[in-house]
Amino acid sequence: MSYKSMFGKVLNVALMGNPVLGKKCRPVLDPLTTEVQELISDMKETIRHRGCLGIAAPQVFCPIRLVVYHIPIKVDDPETYDLTPEYDPEGVPPQVLINPEITPLSDKMSEGWEGCQSVPGLLGLVERYHSIHLKAMDEKGRIYEKETHGFHARIIQHECDHLDGILFPHKLKDPRMFGYYEEVLKYLK
Ligand code: NI
Repeated sequence: MSYKSMFGKVLNVALMGNPVLGKKCRPVLDPLTTEVQELISDMKETIRHRGCLGIAAPQVFCPIRLVVYHIPIKVDDPETYDLTPEYDPEGVPPQVLINPEITPLSDKMSEGWEGCQSVPGLLGLVERYHSIHLKAMDEKGRIYEKETHGFHARIIQHECDHLDGILFPHKLKDPRMFGYYEEVLKYLK
């Protein structure tokens, strides 16, 4: 029996410009290794500590196909939710995506403002598929599939883009719809 801490540690996050964010990440061969399990636990702790929605492994300097995200319940930050009318009010508990595969369910696109821990302080308007099918492994190595829509589908697409070296500023439809968080919030209304 091991006495590994039940809580992970807070990891440093790579900022845009760091080459680790531009790599195509390699698949996770065995999700049950101590290294991967510790990384998952540390990524959960990092999300909790930073108060963000999700993080992809390359953002914590580990270029493998692994994402952790959650959606907190709506009441936390009403300002942000004004930007995301498609928000899922019920919230989503922490989800682990290992070697995720995304398939759009239709051509329908949605626009929404996105931020990123690797692009601090900035928001940009990004178009994403409105509805997607997701296939991935969870932290126990079990394959699962689900369909998500709107804001939930947006988070998954944003995080999975990191696994192919893509950051949200690369996907701006209009480069003018990009700016500092406070300014965007002030002038959007
Ligand atoms: Ni991001």
